[in-house]
Order: sequence, then structure tokens, then C-alpha cells
Amino acid sequence: MKQHFAIAIDGPSGAGKSTLSRRLARELGCSYVDTGAIYRTVAYHFAMLGIGPKDTDNIRRFLPDCAIDIDFQADGVQHMILNGKDVTDELRTPEVSAAASVIAAQPLVREYLLDMQRDLARRYSVVMDGRDIGTVVLPDADVKIYLTASDEARAQRRFAELQEKGEKKSYKAVLADMRARDERDANRAIAPLKKAKDAVELDTTEMTLDEAAAALRKIVEGRCG
Ligand code: DC
Repeated sequence: MKQHFAIAIDGPSGAGKSTLSRRLARELGCSYVDTGAIYRTVAYHFAMLGIGPKDTDNIRRFLPDCAIDIDFQADGVQHMILNGKDVTDELRTPEVSAAASVIAAQPLVREYLLDMQRDLARRYSVVMDGRDIGTVVLPDADVKIYLTASDEARAQRRFAELQEKGEKKSYKAVLADMRARDERDANRAIAPLKKAKDAVELDTTEMTLDEAAAALRKIVEGRCG
């Protein structure tokens, strides 16, 4: 393995990107960057201001007030700091998920976050996950992986997570929300969710988490030694 490296992991929601990327980063002893959390923080910032995710004029006006820091703590959790406040626990609600997907289609938001993501990869060796990491953010990444699974498998996993948290949402509603989000993420004009030409696709539909982690590791070792 090179001294400084970048691994890009893209794919739709619920494919296991965060869990598998965090695990891979731990095994490789590098930083894990969850770029979805960065978009979620922007969405949360505007929701708190009462500004809708499609309100381009107000987003342009107030984006400079959205100061984001990332605190990589020893617990392995990427803490998101918005204007000095840790908002990590506020970012996983269905409302923030939907707003993040809408606001992520705003070119000015993507532009605003691009340097931050590239700068992290310059400073640290990273496993970075998102939608456009291999295609736009880190086109020269050492390894690119497109992680996917069937709609139903992804919705089932998300449904189980929500149930564990005690949230009452039907499987049908989870599947419908997920499809709507995928549709938006894959069809937006700028930096859509897409497999990079040189990415290796890994379909985890029939895999347990341990099997998927082993398959991912094998791809990385095959490419980087
Ligand atoms: O990975 P996630 O579900 O936490 O991401 C939340 C939203 O942010 C997702 O619906 C699309 C957007 N996103 C993006 O457009 N580009 C990225 N690199 C990461 C996330």
C-alpha cells in the first residue's frame, strides 16, 4: 500500500457504504470521510433557518454563514460541527435525508463543498464515500468502488435500522422514500450518482455484512497490494 492513498466508494443509499467504508478505513488505519454527512449538515443548517432546499436565492445568500468543521474523534465517529456546535445526532432523520438529497442538486452547494472534500484527501489517506467521489471529487483515486444492492434489499436494511431505533415507518414507505431519493441523486444535472468508468462494482444483495467487507478488502488488495 502506498504511503498516501485515496479510496473512493460510491453508490445509492442503503448499499452499506458507511458501515463498510468505516470498517475498511479502520483496517487500513486511515481516515473515513462520510461526505453524505457533509450534505446533511448543509441541509440541517438551512432547515434551522427556515429556508427550503430549493430556495436557491436564499441558499446563495446564507451559504457563507454555514461554517462546517469535521472532528474525527477516537470513537471512529465523524462528528459534524456546524458553526461551532456538534450537530451529528441531528442528521439522520428522514426529513434531513430528503432535504439533503434536494439541496445536493444545487450546483452552488456542490461547488462550496468540493474544496473541503479534496482538501481532506490531500491531508489524509482516506476512504471517502458518497455519490460522486470517483467521478468528480477524487477522479484520480487509487481504488474506486461502486457499491450497490437491489432496491428491496437496501430498503429492508434501512427498515430494520429504523425499527431498531423504535421509529414507526412501514417498509413500503421506506422503499418509496428511498426510490425517490435515488431517482433525484441519479438524475440531477450536476455530479449525479454514477459508476465511474474505472470503478469496480460490488453488489451486496446476497451478502452478509462480513462477506461484503471481505469482498471489499479483496478488491482493494487486488488493486493496491
Ligand atoms: O450518503 P447519505 O445518504 O448520507 O447522503 C445524503 C444525501 O446527500 C444523498 O441523498 C445525496 C447527497 N450526497 C451527494 O449528493 N453527494 C455525495 N458525495 C454524498 C451525498
